[in-house]
Amino acid sequence: MVVQGSQQGHVAQIIDGKAVAKTIRAQLKVDIDALVGKGHRRPGLAVVLAGDDAASALYVKNKIKACKEVGIESFFHKFDADITLEQLTACVQALSQQADDVDGILVQLPLPGRLPAEGVLQALSPEKDVDGLTTISMGRLLEGKPGLRPCTPSGVIELLKQNKVEISGKRAVVVGRSNLVGKPAALLLMQHNATVTVCHSKSEQLDEICRSADILVVAAGRKQFVKGSWVKPGACVIDVGIHHDKNEQGQSEICGDVEFAEASRVAAWITPVPGGVGPMTIAMLLSNTLTAYKMRKGVK
Ligand code: GUN
Repeated sequence: MVVQGSQQGHVAQIIDGKAVAKTIRAQLKVDIDALVGKGHRRPGLAVVLAGDDAASALYVKNKIKACKEVGIESFFHKFDADITLEQLTACVQALSQQADDVDGILVQLPLPGRLPAEGVLQALSPEKDVDGLTTISMGRLLEGKPGLRPCTPSGVIELLKQNKVEISGKRAVVVGRSNLVGKPAALLLMQHNATVTVCHSKSEQLDEICRSADILVVAAGRKQFVKGSWVKPGACVIDVGIHHDKNEQGQSEICGDVEFAEASRVAAWITPVPGGVGPMTIAMLLSNTLTAYKMRKGVK
């Protein structure tokens, strides 16, 4: 396929999220070891998982493993899918208000079918909201006030900064309007002085809007939704999607929301899937946990 605007033989620079995340985690370990060396306790993260979703179970396992590696203590709370909203809320409330060794609380989403995420998240103290998803954290982000920011969108910003991709003054397009990624990503890009457009599956001329982007952040939740021909030559493409699939030979394959090979021939920078945004989400969660700990304990 010949992509409009592509140059013969051009390949985008890969933004290596795994490497950036590794550096962040190594620094966190140094910081935490230094705190422990001064006699402080370790930061603590409570991880709450309800139900049997296999992908969620894997994410949670990876988060707990990552905690251990940097020296954050984790407290795992696992519930069956038939837990009631009252029971789950009571757990989150107790962790928020009583558990002194818990600096951060992560409620893995999505919750089992009938349970509203908002109901549970509102029981979570904003000071321990390391996912940045409560209404108060979102409000702080909207107003540009200090607070804990959602992990995936802050990981996106960190990737742009670490790769020296200019944000200020640039046109950023965010595809997707979820509370978890799209909306907070747009707000963070705006705070970094980008001119931001948010679009979604119902937007008209989506291809044209995407083609106007210097920075294209795609969190559409649909496999290879953004085509290579939608990418502006020289753009930076950040793919937040992750989809597990089988190829024609029946082998497992992971891909994102963007047609990677085609987009790579047009863009100047692109994140791979896996190894792009994914590792950053966990790194930012660990970083937020240390931030929450320092704020609660009043240490620098
Ligand atoms: N499910 C998918 N991504 C996330 C995330 O970043 N945080 C939480 N809590 N749940 C998720």
